[in-house]
Amino acid sequence: MNTHRLAVIPGDGIGREVIPVGLKVIDAAGDRFGFRIEPSEFPWGCGYYLSHGAMMPEDGLTRLRDFDAIYLGAVGDPRVPDHVSLWGLLLPIRKSFELFANVRPIRLLDGIDGPLAGRRPEDIDMMFVRENTEGEYAGIGGRMAVGTPQEIALQTSVHTRRSTERILRFAFDLARARRRRLAHVTKSNALQYTAVMWDDVAAEIGRDYPDVEVRKLHVDAAAYQMVLHPDWFDVLVASNLYADILTDLGAALQGSLGLSASANLDPTRQAPSMFEPVHGSAPDIAGQGMANPMAAIWTASLLLEHLGETEASRAVFEALTAVVRAREVRTPDLGGHNRTIEVGDAVLGAMAA
Ligand code: NAI
Ligand code: MG
Repeated sequence: MNTHRLAVIPGDGIGREVIPVGLKVIDAAGDRFGFRIEPSEFPWGCGYYLSHGAMMPEDGLTRLRDFDAIYLGAVGDPRVPDHVSLWGLLLPIRKSFELFANVRPIRLLDGIDGPLAGRRPEDIDMMFVRENTEGEYAGIGGRMAVGTPQEIALQTSVHTRRSTERILRFAFDLARARRRRLAHVTKSNALQYTAVMWDDVAAEIGRDYPDVEVRKLHVDAAAYQMVLHPDWFDVLVASNLYADILTDLGAALQGSLGLSASANLDPTRQAPSMFEPVHGSAPDIAGQGMANPMAAIWTASLLLEHLGETEASRAVFEALTAVVRAREVRTPDLGGHNRTIEVGDAVLGAMAA
């Protein structure tokens, strides 16, 4: 029997509520499709920070390195500054392991009344590819004369040709496997160095993909078009910051952040890829048992696909979509009154059926 070693980091807030549900679904899929998941849980995050002064132990990355995949909930707590929690756990994992492709499906599922009037599931089906290791989140900069009227803050974007090429190639390949349309999102009118390099590299790589239709958009125009003409989009690719923002817009088009899944992939498979819902720790609803676990379950389906458990991945996604379509069991973010656990049980039920 195939065994997969899974590092589990529930993290903070609703991460601790949705990840156990996702794990139950993964377990059930293993029972049905004949594989075993061996989970190891790591209690890292803001709780750990408040008692240890660090988001994870010093050897944290080394301990994660040998797993087949990482399943992460969310990190963030009002008692810890967000830049401390983000830079202490999530970003080091993404960067050190070179999980360079952050892939986020944006689909309006049958059974969800999205915010766009008249739009149906066939109109909203995109795949976002976010550069995940550098760009605006390179962490280069500093502050001087802090708190004085002379204060200066610098935050430098770093775009290397190597990273730009690999993310664009990944996006072109994905487009080729889908509907062969790629939206290449930059801001090359205002950013004449970094964004123009992206445009140059996209044009070069595009020559290898004459079958893929490329549309170049500035990020502001992309935000506008995603709302007015979501049906045009298939695969979108953008730098770290732009795709971070546009994928929350995408989550809104899907009807809730509680439905938005993501995979941080190392396509070379040298390091463990990391799978996490797009949402954060949602302190406003944490501890109430009302968080939507669908994003974590959809993320579990992406995780299983990456582990090569294709049938299980499909079964989890189909069970999830069946529950959504039935409109019976749903959490408050989708207008329902069910609890996190009840949604999980409904998905488990649909899988068994
Ligand atoms: P958030 O995603 O936690 O919440 C935004 C809004 O969406 C809130 O009203 C929340 O209740 C709702 N929401 C999110 N997920 C939901 C779910 N599964 N079910 C129902 N409602 C859901 O973003 P926010 O409020 O900006 O950040 C909260 C904390 O999370 C901060 O500390 C932030 O730094 C952190 N964060 C962490 C992320 C990560 O670990 N990947 C990503 C985004 C934020
Ligand atoms: Mg984000």
